[in-house]
Parts: sequence; C-alpha cells; structure tokens
Amino acid sequence: MVNMSGILAFFVGLVMVGLVSSAKFDELFQSSWALDHFIHEGEQIKLQLDKYSGAGFESKKKYMFGRVSLNLKLVEGDSAGTVTAFYMSSEGANHNEFDFEFLGNTTGEPYSVQTNVYVNGVGNREQRLNLWFDPTKEFHSYSIFWNQRQVVFLVDETPIRVHMNLEHKGNPIPKDQAMGVYSSLWNADDWATQGGRVKTDWSHAPFVATYKDFEINACECPVPVTAAENAKRCSSSEDKSYWWDEPTMSELSLHQSHQLLWVRANHMVYDYCSDTARFPVTPAECVHHRH
Ligand SMILES: *[C@@H]1O[C@H](CO)[C@@H](O)[C@H](O)[C@H]1NC(C)=O
Repeated sequence: MVNMSGILAFFVGLVMVGLVSSAKFDELFQSSWALDHFIHEGEQIKLQLDKYSGAGFESKKKYMFGRVSLNLKLVEGDSAGTVTAFYMSSEGANHNEFDFEFLGNTTGEPYSVQTNVYVNGVGNREQRLNLWFDPTKEFHSYSIFWNQRQVVFLVDETPIRVHMNLEHKGNPIPKDQAMGVYSSLWNADDWATQGGRVKTDWSHAPFVATYKDFEINACECPVPVTAAENAKRCSSSEDKSYWWDEPTMSELSLHQSHQLLWVRANHMVYDYCSDTARFPVTPAECVHHRH
C-alpha cells in the first residue's frame, strides 16, 4: 500500500534548505581589526603580526549548526610566541565557543594545535596535539562541524576531537546560541610557546598566516530574532530537513572513529580529560574516550 505522507516526507527530506556555501571571502567575512595588517591578495587573505599589531577577520553573519572550513598556511620559520586562532563563538557572558589555536614555535620545532570548547562561558577543556605534517609548508584544511549531537574538529577531514552532547548526563553541548566565525593572528608570548619561555623575536616580523577556500555550510541566523526562534529555524522539522541532522551525522563513521583513535594515540600531547591533577573527577563528557 502506498503511503502518500511517507512519500511526501521522503521528497521533502531531499530538499536541503538554508544552505550557504561559498569560497569567496567577501561574501562571508570581513576584516574585524587592524585593517592595515590585513592583506587581500586574489583568492588569499593574509594576516600580519608585527610589534604594533596583529589582525583578524570575522563572519558577517551568525550561524547555528553546520560546517565551517578554511584552508590555512601557518606562519613560516620562527613563529615562536605567535598564535593563530580559528574559532566559532557566540556573544555574552555565557557564550559558547569552539576553538582551534595554532601555537607557534621556534624554527624547526613543531607547531601545536590546541582545541577548546566553551559551554555557557566555561572553557578549561584544552586538548593539544602535534600535527602529522608541517602546517607552514602547504595549505591544509581546518573545519568545525556542529549539530545537536556533537561538535567535531577536523584537520584535512581527519577528526581530531569530538565533543559529544551528553544532555542526559546534565552536560549539554552548546546548541542554543548563534555563533560567529572568527580568525586572528596575535602575540601570546606570555604563554603560547614552550609554556611562555620562548618569546616572540620581533626581528623576524612581520609574521604572516595565509588563508584561502572559505566555506560555510550552515544555518544562517537573523540577528534580531530570539535564540529560541533561531534554534527552531535551524532544526529539522516536518517541513524542512537539514543535512547536519541526518542520522549519519549524529556520530563519527567507523572510519572516522578509527582516524580519531590514531590521532589520539600518535599525536596527542595533552588532554584535559586525563589531567587528574587538574580534574580529580573526570569531566562527564570525557568518559566516552576511555573505552
Ligand atoms: C615546541 O617545540 C617543543 C620542543 O620540540 C615542544 O615540546 C612543544 O610542544 C612545541 N610547541 C609549543 C607550542 O611549544
């Protein structure tokens, strides 16, 4: 027997609404500070840091759920003391944030990638890894995927971190606030490199981070509406179906979970989840890493 409403739901399910996707910087982003340290060169953007200033850019719109990606070539040579950040963040005291921070190093020493997740204004969820390639030689892609079940950080499509929604354990992932997308290059030589022991050598300035291939495939949130309205707009329902709500997006594929295990086994240098001095009680969202 043919079930008409089932067929209808199937076709509606194929229609992906609200997608935004582009590789053009200007459509998605704008310089946010130090315009004189910001260079737009063809398809590439360069952020410069010298002793007077760093620079940054931000998305023109706010988003809820979906995926944000860019290609990035980090500061070459002596990058000690510098931090390049790529992150999503909402606003206000109880803000949420998903961070990639690339911590520079002296020439020949590896960059470290620090990730962090803030929920309701509270971070302290640092993880750090060394990459399996030199991120200063070529462009590599860095992405943040976010839906109601998980936040995934990816490097060249390899997941390096998953933050699961553990709502049932009183540990929700951020899913109520629209987020902007940001990147910046600044001086953080008080902490970034080898615990702050190595300072920025300004004789090597300007330090340059280069970007291209900007992509935002996410649900756009109108700013004047309430968080609840945005959450409703950006969640699949009877009349709309978003790709990030597909069942296959609710957790890593088997292949991806193997990749994540490989990263954790071979490249992780710090994980707050196993820092028992700092967290005598293992944070709830960490428990799934342990089997
Ligand atoms: C820099 O290099 C040192 C020595 O190889 C390493 O211990 C450290 O993790 C690297 N990264 C940072 C950000 O200091």
